[in-house]
Formats: sequence, C-alpha cells, structure tokens
Amino acid sequence: MAPVSLSKLIKKRALMPMLCRLVSDLETSIIIEDVEGQLLMATDGAERLTQYSVTVAGEAIGRVYGSEKVAVIATLLSGMAESEVEKRALVSETLNKYKEITLLYEMVEKVSSCLDTKEVARLVIEEAERVIRLTSVSVFLLNKDTDVLELIAGCGQGQEVATTVERGVGIAGSVWASGRAEIVNDVENDPRFVSGEVKISSMMCAPLKAKDAVVGIIKIGSEQSVVYTAEDLKLFTTLASLAAVSIENASLYEQLKDAFYTTVYTLAETIEKRDPYTGNHTKRVMEYSLAIGRTLGLPEEEMTRLQLGAVLHDIGKIGVRDNVLLKQSALTDEEFEQIKMHAVYGEEIISGIAQLKSAVPGVKQHHEKHNGRGYPLGLKGDEIDITARIIAVADSFDAMTSNRPYRNGLSLDDAFEELRKFSGSQFDPEIVDAFFASDVMDAFFTANSRQKILL
Ligand SMILES: [Fe+2]
Repeated sequence: MAPVSLSKLIKKRALMPMLCRLVSDLETSIIIEDVEGQLLMATDGAERLTQYSVTVAGEAIGRVYGSEKVAVIATLLSGMAESEVEKRALVSETLNKYKEITLLYEMVEKVSSCLDTKEVARLVIEEAERVIRLTSVSVFLLNKDTDVLELIAGCGQGQEVATTVERGVGIAGSVWASGRAEIVNDVENDPRFVSGEVKISSMMCAPLKAKDAVVGIIKIGSEQSVVYTAEDLKLFTTLASLAAVSIENASLYEQLKDAFYTTVYTLAETIEKRDPYTGNHTKRVMEYSLAIGRTLGLPEEEMTRLQLGAVLHDIGKIGVRDNVLLKQSALTDEEFEQIKMHAVYGEEIISGIAQLKSAVPGVKQHHEKHNGRGYPLGLKGDEIDITARIIAVADSFDAMTSNRPYRNGLSLDDAFEELRKFSGSQFDPEIVDAFFASDVMDAFFTANSRQKILL
C-alpha cells in the first residue's frame, strides 16, 4: 500500500484551487490520476501527451499528464507527499516518545517507593500489560548462589511453565548470556526454542541489567501471532531498564534489612549466652508475639516494631551483674530491684539507634501489668504500648513453661491456667484471648484438643 494517497493529499491540503491557478499561470492543461487510474483533476483541452509520475519514497502514488510544463506540478505533488509522510513519521515518533515518557513517569511514580522485589516485579508486569500487546509476562531474577534465574513473578495465559532459566539455554537463557533484548516473532521455529519453554507464538525478552551485570530477565509473550516491532522492543527495553534499577534497589534494601535483623538477633543472643538455661527463649518469645500480632491483625509497621521489641525485650540484662542475673536461689529485694532495671537499661541501649527506636516501648514496658502494678513506670491498661502487652504474655508463657535450674517448668495446661487466671490483672485480656486463638496453639495441640482449650 502506498504510504500516502494522492487523492487524500489533494483534499486534505485543499490543493485544488492552487493547482487550477498554477495550470492557468503556466498556460497549459492537465490531467491528474491516482495510482489506480482514478481521475482526480482534468482541465479543459487536456491531453495525455506526456506522463509524469508522482512518487513518494520511490513508490508511485499517481500520474500527471499534459505538456512538458506540467512536470513541475508532478514534482510539486511528489514533494508535498514526501513532507506528508515525514510529518506522519514525526507525529508517530512523538506519540511513541510520549507513550514512553508517560510509561517512565508512571513507573517511576509507582516503583520508586517500593522496596520489595516481588512487589516491583508485580508493578512492572501490570505496566507491561497496559502498554504492550501480550498474553503473558514473567520476571526472573538471578539466584547468585545457584547461578540460575528463578521465576519471581508472572501472570497471564500461557504463563511460564519452567520456573528456572539456565545461562545459554533456550531463548531466555540466550538473552541472559548475550545481555541484549530480542524479539522472536516465530518462537517454535527458533533454533534455541526448548520444550521446557512455554508455547507462545511471539515473544520479547529483555535482560534486567544493574551496573552492566544481568540480574534477571523479563519476558513477554503472545499466544496469538503478533509481530512485535522495533518500536515495541524500544518501549519494552525502557521498561526493563527501569525495572532493573528498581529491583536492584529493592534487593539491596532486602539485603540490608537481612543484615540488620541478623545484627539484632546476634545482639539478643549475646544475652542468652550469659544465661544458658534460657536457650532459645528470645526466639520463642518472638514467635509467640508474632502469632498474637497476626491474630490481632496488626499492620505491617506494627508487626516490625513487635518483632524487634520481642527480640530485644531483655537486651537490658546486659547491664545486670552476673551474680544477680545468674543467681540460682531466691533474690533479695535489692537484687530484684537490680533485675527490674533491665527494662530501663534496654531503653538506654536501643533508643540511640534510629532503626531500633520504634522497639523502645516494647522493650521498656514489657514488665508493666494491666492493673498498673508492673514496672518500671506502673502504667496500666491501654497506657501500655500494644507491643509491650503482647510481649508480656509471650514472655511470661515461655518463662512459665521453661525449666530453670531451681525449678521445673509448668505443664502446658498449668501455664494456660495461669494465663487465664492473671488475664485482666497482670495481662491484657484481649491479648490473652488472641494468644489462645493464635496458630501457636496448633503447634501444641490437635484441632480437637484446641477446641477444648478455647471452651
Ligand atoms: Fe524482661
């Protein structure tokens, strides 16, 4: 098909009056036809003496007949057609650029605040579905330990069957190895196609590059035969570059978070090491606390605060002397006062660390009691931070059921009884109920006996 129609060009640019005047000025006659021979213009006395082609990009779009004088009109029409084609290309390029910029802007808006790799992948998939014709999208990330790409998110019809990609194997593996984005419009006939790869007609695959290293790939496919163009690939690669930066950021953040939690656990473990009889107390308090938090439906931010508080609840014991902390017989009043100070020491230790500040209430108040008779401040009811109220139940339950050198731990039934007995005085009753309704119970009892407990 001709890139532009001569008939439409004449109409669109309202050329007829100008052509008539030109023919009259040249004192000649003219016949203009389109490429199919349809008559577009003919003046009085015109004859088909000589034929001049109207061309655009080397292709004829019409003919002009008349004397030699009309050659100039054929050239003029060819020039106008060329400029029309250029204008269209420019409009199309501008539109594509606009699409690309809008995509970039929207993506940046969405993913820049996202620090979870899977969530970033999900947002990228959502965006790809919006701007590119596709029936499936998959995002693979490099597992540096195994050196294979692992599927972390995907969606759509004909979605990925294989959950891993090896370097150089299949089309995706080849894109990983080359580091270059590709269009494959006839997947099954591609020599690199491997049977493990999902059957799609057309696909585009782009590497996710961070600092020149491939950290993953993104792959889109269409079950129907689609001819992906260079323009599609450009848009797709833009999306992939942006996704790579965001995924890398999120991944770095996750690594940092892991390192942070490891440091916090190590800190808490140093306390446990001083008192070997408390083995794994911190871990269990954290697990019970999180189970209660989940049952109460605490938001993510509160859960993080709760986790940190639970892990660090007894960190202040580092400030209590061994002869008091490890004493195996009953404590004197003065010694007990020293033990009580661990809640305050805990606050002093962690309040100076910005990332741990949110855990201060949980650490400082975990020995406060619902009735106001706890320490160090004598807070009561809702005055006590929610994380501290939860940690109090988890901590007491674990202390009751653990063996100590000077006494055996209570049986589970007796410990449950104690929690019920002190619910409303020592413990917040809502938290005690949440403990009994939590999945911690699953670890202790079968479904039947759990019913018994709840009754
Ligand atoms: Fe404590």
